[in-house]
This record gives sequence, structure tokens and C-alpha cells, in this order.
Amino acid sequence: MDKSAAERRVIELNQVINHHNERYYQEANPEISDYEFDRLLEELQMLERAFPELLKSDSPSQRVGGSVTKNFPTVVHEFPFLSLANSYSREDLEDFDQRIRKLWTGAFSYTCELKYDGVAIGLTYEKGILVRAVTRGDGAMGDEVTPNVRTIRNIPLRLKGEGFPNTFEIRGEIYMPLKSFEQLNHQRKLELEDLGYNEDQINEKLFKNPRNATAGSLKIQESAEVAKRKLDCCVYALMGEYPGLESHFDNLHLAGTWGFPVSKHSKTCASLSDVFQFIDYWDEQRDSLPFEIDGIVIKVNEYAVQRVLGNTAKSPRWAMAYKFKARQAYTLLDHISYQVGRTGAITPVANLKPVFLAGTTVKRASLHNADFIAEMDIREGDYVWVEKGGEIIPKIVGVDVNARKEIGQPHHYIEYCPECKSPLHRKEGEAQHYCLNANGCRPQICGKIIHYVGRKAMDISSLGEKTIELFVSEGLIRTPADLYQLTKEEILRLEGFKELSTQNILDGIAQSKEVPFERVIFALGIRYVGETVAKKLAIHFRSLENIRNATLEQLLEAEEIGEIIAQSVFDYLRNTEHWEMIEALRHAGVKMELDADAFMPKSDVLAGKTFVVSGVFSLFSRDELKKKIEENGGKVLSSVSGATQFLVAGENMGPEKRKKADKLGVSILSEQEFNQMISH
Ligand code: IVH
Repeated sequence: MDKSAAERRVIELNQVINHHNERYYQEANPEISDYEFDRLLEELQMLERAFPELLKSDSPSQRVGGSVTKNFPTVVHEFPFLSLANSYSREDLEDFDQRIRKLWTGAFSYTCELKYDGVAIGLTYEKGILVRAVTRGDGAMGDEVTPNVRTIRNIPLRLKGEGFPNTFEIRGEIYMPLKSFEQLNHQRKLELEDLGYNEDQINEKLFKNPRNATAGSLKIQESAEVAKRKLDCCVYALMGEYPGLESHFDNLHLAGTWGFPVSKHSKTCASLSDVFQFIDYWDEQRDSLPFEIDGIVIKVNEYAVQRVLGNTAKSPRWAMAYKFKARQAYTLLDHISYQVGRTGAITPVANLKPVFLAGTTVKRASLHNADFIAEMDIREGDYVWVEKGGEIIPKIVGVDVNARKEIGQPHHYIEYCPECKSPLHRKEGEAQHYCLNANGCRPQICGKIIHYVGRKAMDISSLGEKTIELFVSEGLIRTPADLYQLTKEEILRLEGFKELSTQNILDGIAQSKEVPFERVIFALGIRYVGETVAKKLAIHFRSLENIRNATLEQLLEAEEIGEIIAQSVFDYLRNTEHWEMIEALRHAGVKMELDADAFMPKSDVLAGKTFVVSGVFSLFSRDELKKKIEENGGKVLSSVSGATQFLVAGENMGPEKRKKADKLGVSILSEQEFNQMISH
């Protein structure tokens, strides 16, 4: 396709995609399937890659992200980013109303709005095109996060309609709808479980609430990743003054006609009693919304009155936030049960009489560990208060001691594993109890094999959880290595297994021998060793034998390996049973080292050249850079000396090194320059 044909098609695709975007996000009435939509977008991206000059900042392809931001530039706000004064009671609002009436004796009205619980953003448009998105920051200046904000589907990249000023800023809240939030945390939880984190550690690492998740998402450096987070926006304030329209409510309505997402729940109220009604209604109904709100915002509607009232240093005198209280429920704690994780960690769980709380029915709450139960003196049969505050996982916040019918005993924490009955163990200084019977405790045995066959590990998709549990209980397997000893006859003997499904299972197991070494490391299920860490270990040490022979200090030399991970890897590989299992896997043909061709030079462009790599890089990790040098025939040296020809310098490289390199006449390369060197 020549450039002019490409240009015509790009313009056409822009229009078509924008049209479908609008149907989808603003009218909730799509005309084409997601699949067809994605094809159009891919075609546009392909053309924009082939003809970069055709890529415009308002192209719908910006929605999928792709750019990488290393540092978000700081931008000074044209209008200070004020916040709101808070109120918690009717009296507070009555005082607010009285204060206004002292300063303004004429008539006025209020606009009541939902208080979206997210992150404030200022969006600047020039000639109808989104040019800048800046976070609130400290109120005077914030971070520019434009590429990330462009991925938010309901923020217009180009305005429609007419009457918008040539340049203006509009402010609003970016938030994560509850559905996106649940998906995100669910995914994270699965990944963390896979790494062997216990429930408390997982809860620690999950996003506490949609607001935290939103804030975290806006700071991601890869906008393509932000696009996956499915954020939304709602605008609530036009900055500056606009001729013709004299009220906040009308102005927002007008912004809606330009394509901005404005809340359909806002309402003008003539009196304070209408305001109270609005508050009561939403306090009651807020759980029916697909996103979180933490209160109501009450604003004087008329600009003329707003101007008279003015601002304090921190907030406008014409607006007030009314904050909702955290939701509590009162219910019976029926009994305490215990779960055993893949690593043997024990988690006590409160089984509650189901109770409705903030949009969901709560049946269970984590009791964390023995200390938590003891400190709160929680007993089976107690009535307890459960709260969903800023955190999505309900927690027990109080025990109704007065409701106890008899003087019972404090809860006695289990001493033996609920699954295998072996004695529980608690390490000095740790809160969690563990079952140490790793090889004899069913949930631990099954959990390890389930992890081993997982998609990101050995990817044996023909073996589901139920099948694994059955094989374990039938005594066919006990460790991942046993999978490779399974025979057709053994499986066929079990009920429900036919020739074809059995063959599928065996084929899947056989194919797993081709899985690359780094995924084998991950599949072993060493605690805290995720996909990334596994890869770093593989690149750095090249074989499991080498990892095993490494001292703790040597393990720490590999990238991203901190003390906790190093200790975990060290302990795991020194356990005889683990090593026997690994030997059995090796014997079965599972890869225990990097493929030879992973280190075969891909080119000889660097043949005869010597390099030292130092500092932090953005395109590659340090180990990846070293690998690239070797793959291209070069040699990596550990320190700058007379034998060094090139120093690939990243950020934070020590000044001493640079001095030494300069003195010795070593050429200093940026990673971009290095990249150019090998791509020729
Ligand atoms: S108006 C000068 N309206 O609440 C007025 N703020 O606690 C500025 N917020 O920083 C704010 N929903 O991020 C306004 N409908 C709404 C809002 C809202 C959420 C946030 C906003 C602000 C914070 C103050």
C-alpha cells in the first residue's frame, strides 16, 4: 500500500473506530462484535507502524497503549487543585448552609453529586484534542500521565459538538469499576497463591480497594498494561469561566454534549432538605452502583454565588463533601475452620451466618493467625461485628462479649494439621503455623502437582485439578516426578477414563519434556519464585546444578534475587527429598539446564569485543544485556580494566567507574547505542 492509500484508510479507520467506541462506551449499544472491533484496531495499528507519520495523538490506537514512560514529568497546575472540606453529619451541613447564607442573602441552589472514590485528574484540551492529563499531586503540581490516561475508554481523545473553548481544562475522577477491580485482584491472587504466599501475605499484596488500584494503575510505566486495567472516568468540574452558562450543572451538561462522561446521578436541589434526601437515598443505594463512592459532594450551583464565597487556601467555601460511614454488619460466628495451603501454611477462617454487607453476602472472614484470634478473644458461637471499610475483604472488628450466653473458654488453636494430623509448627517470630508434612499431606501434595502442570509452568492442560486429586488418592502419584511414570493401564483401570482421554494425558506429560528450563524452575513451586525470578535464575546460573551449588552470596548476585528469595531457593535445593525428585525429573527427560542454543551466538557482530555492563537499564535487564553480548559473540568482563573496550552504562552508574573508563579510553555506550550496534 502506498502512503496516500494508507492515509485514506487511516482516516477512514479513525472515523469507523471512533464511531464504534462511542456506540460501545457512551451509548452502551455496540453494532459490531469485540472481535471485529479488535481487527479494525489492529489494522490501524499496523498502518501506523508502517507509516509512523500518520499516527495522530487522538488516534483510537492510543487506547491500547504501547508507549513506555520512564519518569512522569511534573507539571504546575494553572488553577490550584483544591480539595473539599469534609462533613460527617447533618449538623455539619446545616452549619455549611448557614455560613453561606450569611455571605449571600439571595436565592441559590445546590448541585449534589456522587463522590467518586478514585484519583483526581485534570484534562487539558486544545482545539478539541486531549493534549495533557495531570494528577492532583500536592495541589500545586502533579504528574503528567497522558499516555496512560489516553487508554481510558470513556475519556474523549477528540471532542464532538461545538462551543468548547479553544483551550481549557476539565477535572474529574478516574476510578476502577468494581468488576475490573475484582478481576484484577482475582488474577493477582491466583498468581500469588501459585508462588506459595499464604493468605495474609496475599492480602498484604492485593490492592486494598479500587482507589489504590486506580492510583497504582496510573503510575504504571507501560501504557499497554494500563489499558488492561479497565479504568473509567467521570468529570465534575470545568475550569475557567464560560460565557452564556451561569451554573455548574448546566456547564457539566454541556460538557456531556462534547463527549465527556458526566454523572447521570447528579441533581440540583433547591433546599437543604432536598440535599438530605439525596444523601439518604445514596447512603442506602450506593451498593447498587458498579463503582465505589465514599460520599456525596454538595456544591453551590450558581457561579455568581461561588465567586462571592471564594476559596480558602485548601478548599472552596461553596462546596462540601459528605462522607459515608463504613458499613458494619452484626452476625453469628458459627465455627472456626482451618485451611492448608500448598506450602503447608494454615489459615484460620471464621464461618459466619450469612449476612448482607455493602453489596455482597458475607459468609467467611479471615482470622489471619493464632495471635489475631487470641488478641480479639474470638470464640465459636460469638456474635461479631464485620466491617467493609476501605478494604474489600471483610474483617471482624469486634466481638459482642455481652451476647455470650455462658462463660466459655478462649478458642483453642489447633495443634495438629486438619488434613494429615501431623503436629503443626510455628517458627520463632512468625505468626503463621505450618504443617511440615509436605510429602504426606494431601492439599500440599495436590497443590504442588497442580502448580507443576499449570499453564505458566509445564502447561499440561490435559491434567485438571480433579484428575490430579483422583490420581493422588488412588496412590498413582505423589510428586510431579511420578507423572512421568504413569502408564496407560494404570489410568484406564480408573473409572471414567477412556482410551482417548488417557492418551491425551500421557501425550501432555510427554510434551512437557520440551518445556524450557526457566519454566521448569517455576514449576518446581519453590516459595517466592515466580516466573520472573525463575527466568533470572535460569539466565544467571544456566543449570539447576549450578543453582544448587551456589552459595547464598552467589544467589544474591543474580538480578532481582533478594535475601528472602535466596534463602528460600537455597533451603529448597538442599532438601534431600526435593533433590531426589529433581533427579527423577531429570531422569525422565525434563530440562534441567538452558538449551544449548540459548547461548549459541546468534551473530558475530561483537566477536572479539569486550564489554562491562554497569547501572540500571530500561530496555533490558542487566543479565539480559549480558546474554545479548554473548549471543552476538562478545565477551562480558566483570570490571573495567585495560582489557575493556566498551562500557555499557545505565542509570545510577557510579562516577568512579566512569572516571576509570575515561582514563583507560574505554568507549561508553548507552543501551540505545548498544542496541543499535547489535541490530546492524
Ligand atoms: S469537586 C474544587 N466533585 O474528592 C472542587 N470532587 O475529597 C474539587 N471527588 O479531590 C472537587 N467526586 O478527587 C468533586 N463529584 C465530585 C467528586 C470529587 C470525587 C474527589 C476529588 C477531590 C476529592 C476531595
